[in-house]
Amino acid sequence: MPAPIIKVDAISKSFGTFKVLDGLSMQVMPGEKLALIGPSGSGKTTILRILMTLEKIDGGHIQVDGEQLYHMERNGQLLPADERHLARMRQKIGMVFQLFNLFPHKCVIDNVTLAPMLTKGVARAAAEKRAMELLDMVGLADKAKAMPAQLSGGQKQRVAIARALALSPKIMLFDEVTSALDPELVEEVLNVMRKLAAETDMTMLLVTHEMGFAHDFADRVLFFDRGRIVEEGKPDEIFRHPKQERTQSFLKKIIAAGHRV
Ligand SMILES: Nc1ncnc2c1ncn2[C@@H]1O[C@H](COP(=O)(O)OP(=O)(O)O)[C@@H](O)[C@H]1O
Ligand SMILES: [Mg+2]
Repeated sequence: MPAPIIKVDAISKSFGTFKVLDGLSMQVMPGEKLALIGPSGSGKTTILRILMTLEKIDGGHIQVDGEQLYHMERNGQLLPADERHLARMRQKIGMVFQLFNLFPHKCVIDNVTLAPMLTKGVARAAAEKRAMELLDMVGLADKAKAMPAQLSGGQKQRVAIARALALSPKIMLFDEVTSALDPELVEEVLNVMRKLAAETDMTMLLVTHEMGFAHDFADRVLFFDRGRIVEEGKPDEIFRHPKQERTQSFLKKIIAAGHRV
């Protein structure tokens, strides 16, 4: 039995007096494809941002790839992580957001090469070679010199995926990456994720309202509500035979809103 690549242990997180996550625990196995579903405001983005070290936690522990994320082990003691530790841990994880946030004044290939050159000191020629491979993988090799404004939303999102992959993360986080897209552009982005899942052994965590995609794609589904995991299981269990009343009513609402399950 391999060790989990992500181990979240009783973490809590408040914004002001509002407790977003309350003693949340979860584990993810290497290579696992996990779908996080649940109502708006249930803490899905917050947990991804915490894993990405974009938010601090108030309590609990997180292990990523065998190391503490927010703590450093020094002489058998756990100390709060310093910026250097966080920067090193951050390279294990890539994230793609709902809104593309590409650098608007940089062309596509420069968007992809920037982080490896700046944070890892990769030489331009090597960074560009890798960037072209990644752009080819997402079907955008011919757009390398285009500016973000010249791209469709689906193309921008595929560049954002290539950019996150350029740092060779072990774990990829996708936060509603198709929600801001016109319906006809959704599939091209989902296809890139399918391809990634098929061609790599990357661990992937995905927040989505595309329940049909989650059903086909995920090994396991976590249903979040009010900062807690209310129910988890294989896609068929969650989507076809949800046990908890809150999962059932959430899925009913999603279907009523026109989403395919
Ligand atoms: N930076 C922030 N400051 C204050 N409240 C926040 C912040 N980020 C998220 N929240 C609140 O935390 C709750 C959970 O948010 P979020 O994790 O984005 O939920 P989800 O992604 O499941 O919709 C929401 O009520 C949201 O308004
Ligand atoms: Mg969210």
